[in-house]
This record gives sequence, structure tokens and C-alpha cells, in this order.
Amino acid sequence: MSEGKKFKLAILGSGHGSNMAAIAEACRTGQVPAEMAIVISDVEGAGILTRAGERGIRAEHIAPGKFRTKLDEAAEQTYIAALQQARVDLIVLAGFMRILKGDFLRAFPERVVNIHPALLPSFPGLEAWKQALDYGVKVTGCTVHFVDQGIDTGPILGQQTVPVLDDDSPATLHERIQQAERDLYPAMIAALLRGEIQVRGRTTVRRRVN
Ligand code: GRF
Repeated sequence: MSEGKKFKLAILGSGHGSNMAAIAEACRTGQVPAEMAIVISDVEGAGILTRAGERGIRAEHIAPGKFRTKLDEAAEQTYIAALQQARVDLIVLAGFMRILKGDFLRAFPERVVNIHPALLPSFPGLEAWKQALDYGVKVTGCTVHFVDQGIDTGPILGQQTVPVLDDDSPATLHERIQQAERDLYPAMIAALLRGEIQVRGRTTVRRRVN
């Protein structure tokens, strides 16, 4: 994306919205050169919607339709229409528990990013912090990546490491990873919007823009 412009962000989430709050704060302070255009959740009454509403951000529940892990066809079109109407430049997934594919990704090419609570390609999928703990790794972290047709497989924008401590429980490790997410995600969104990150095939490259 380019320099000097104020961009519009959409955030999609199903949970508490701690990443959304960190990104909103980074928009407010100017770290991220964007405004929060809309927050959408597939879960009615989700914390992310309440937290967005408290900040005066437009917050909408859009029903996901009949499937458990993805949007059905009608819902997918409703999501696309809402995002196009809000004229968003970037769609930020923050704990959105539905797989996005096909029409949705074609409508927003290279405009959908996600944060995953592990160092991909290790531990894709659900409860990645628990997978890391069960495996016995000594270092894990979080990854910001573009969303493609696979599950947690798109080109990586950035990663941050987090130590695994001997007495960690899933909850303590997840909390440490989430702290890292709240640093990494705004930083990667800012870099992307400022045109500092370019996709090169499977990966991305970083160039500084002054
Ligand atoms: C984060 O840990 C993220 O990595 C995962 O879902 C969680 C969302 O948390 N994909 P929150 O809703 O941002 O608090």
C-alpha cells in the first residue's frame, strides 16, 4: 500500500478483542496510519463487539449461516458487501474462528491478514499454545501472515518469539503469547499500510520507507 494516506481497517473476530483493542489504540496514537472503519463478529454479543462499541467503533454481528467452521454462501456475500460498503483497505482477522476461502479471498486479494499464536509453520490450527506446550518446545511465539486458501499457510509478514517456561500452563503461555501479539500485530499492520512490506511469492520482503 502507499504512503501518506489514512487507511480504513476492518477487524473480524469471535472472541474478547484484545488484539482489536491494541490495534484501535495504535490507530488512535498514530502508530498505525488508519482508522477503524468496522468491527464484525460472527458471534452475537462477543466481547470484541462490546469493546469496539465502547470505543465508538462501528460494531456489527453478521450471522455466519449454517456451518460451524466457515461462512455459508449467503453469509459470505453479506460479509463481502459490508466490507466493500465500508470501503476498507485491509481486513484484519483477530481471533475470527471461521475459515475464509474462495469468493471472500478473491474479493480482497492480498488484503486479508491474520495472527496465529505460534511460530508458523509449527502448530497451525486450534489451540496452538497448547500444541506447543504438549510438544515440549522451549520457544514459541506468534505470526502475522496473509490469508490464503490454506489453513495458516499464507506468506508471513512477521514473527515474534516467546519463551516457554518450565512451569507454564496453557493459560500462562497463551497470555504471554497474547502480550507479544499486541506488539507485533499493530507493528505489522503499520508496516504493511506504509508500503514497507511486499509479497515475493511464498514470502515477503521488508523495505524501509521514510
Ligand atoms: C489470539 O490469541 C489469536 O492469536 C487467536 O485468537 C486469539 C484472539 O484473542 N487467533 P482476542 O480476541 O484478540 O483477545
